[in-house]
Amino acid sequence: MSERTRTRPAGHTSAPTNSRLLRINGTLDPHVHLRGLEWSHKGTFASETAAALAGGYCAVFDMPNTPPATVNETSLQRKLIDLGAQARCDYKAWLGADPKRDPNPQELQQLGQQVCGLKLYCGETTGTLLIDRTLMESYIAAWSGPGPIGLHAEGDMIQHFIEAVARYGKVGHICHIPTKAAVEQLQAAKEAGVKLTAGVSPHHLFLTDRDLDALGPKAVMKPPLGQSTDRDALWEGLRSGVIDMVETDHAPHTWEEKQQHKPAFGVAGLDTCLPLMLTAASEGRIGYDLLPTILADAPRAVFGLAAADAESYVLLDPKSRWTITAENLHTDCGWSPFEGVSMTGRVVETVLRGRTVFKDSEVLAEPGFGQPL
Ligand code: DOR
Ligand code: ZN
Repeated sequence: MSERTRTRPAGHTSAPTNSRLLRINGTLDPHVHLRGLEWSHKGTFASETAAALAGGYCAVFDMPNTPPATVNETSLQRKLIDLGAQARCDYKAWLGADPKRDPNPQELQQLGQQVCGLKLYCGETTGTLLIDRTLMESYIAAWSGPGPIGLHAEGDMIQHFIEAVARYGKVGHICHIPTKAAVEQLQAAKEAGVKLTAGVSPHHLFLTDRDLDALGPKAVMKPPLGQSTDRDALWEGLRSGVIDMVETDHAPHTWEEKQQHKPAFGVAGLDTCLPLMLTAASEGRIGYDLLPTILADAPRAVFGLAAADAESYVLLDPKSRWTITAENLHTDCGWSPFEGVSMTGRVVETVLRGRTVFKDSEVLAEPGFGQPL
């Protein structure tokens, strides 16, 4: 790791000693698939934002690959109305690049003011938003922000994205960065001055392809699980600051959909991400002092939100020991790849705009309490 890319202090690894509880202000998950709309059988804005609050998140950014896809004014307004009525935590939506047409820069400029960023699906995924390299370039060229251009991709397409972002002088965000090779590409691009950030998902940090046999469809997602060398590079990238943040890629599917011959891609992540990160900190894999950066401050800064206000926060017990079970999840899908895994660290209370919205395993905010960011 070069000094230039090492943007973070090394971080201490002992649990905080001055107070039993750890507090993180303004937690934000910039990558969730809440479902709702025509996929309400998988989860609703009400159920999945309950999982967000139970998981210690104050706010989430919802991805565009739901039917109807969030690719124009009509579908964006429809989603925002449902989110406004149902969300229990604060929220914003992503806009998706539409595979059915070339970008319209004026339309993108207007829509850009209402969303957190533009999402490009350049690799196999759930939904109908897959675009090819030509359209990826056109959308990168046409986007005027203010949010970044988010990328879903694997393999060579990640480097093609980095080069196009550099060529057009745009700001890119590599979503759920999956491999050692991609971390190396990201680091080289950052060192060359390309305006890039990246997020890593908990399943890529805590699982590898060796878990596929035991977990079956619960370990099937896109991008897929990598090898242990990939996982280790993701941890090192997160510790050093090459990878900016953690994003859950919370993507619930019904258990029935996961048991099909070709299981649906995606895993639930909102309930379990913060406990997993606390557990990693208890084992010395990351410093407790980095958690506010990667779970709140970095995503807020990258997506142009004000610094966290002191009225919205999560309280975490870094010592509490417990085991994840299907019963203690709040997501509607009711399953997790981490069922049966022992945690050291628990979400105790989530407070949103001064009100306790989760405590003692109970979600206390009603649908509609969430505000647009
Ligand atoms: O595994 C995934 N599931 N990857 C994605 O890109 C989409 C997500 C979903 O929406 O199910
Ligand atoms: Zn996703």
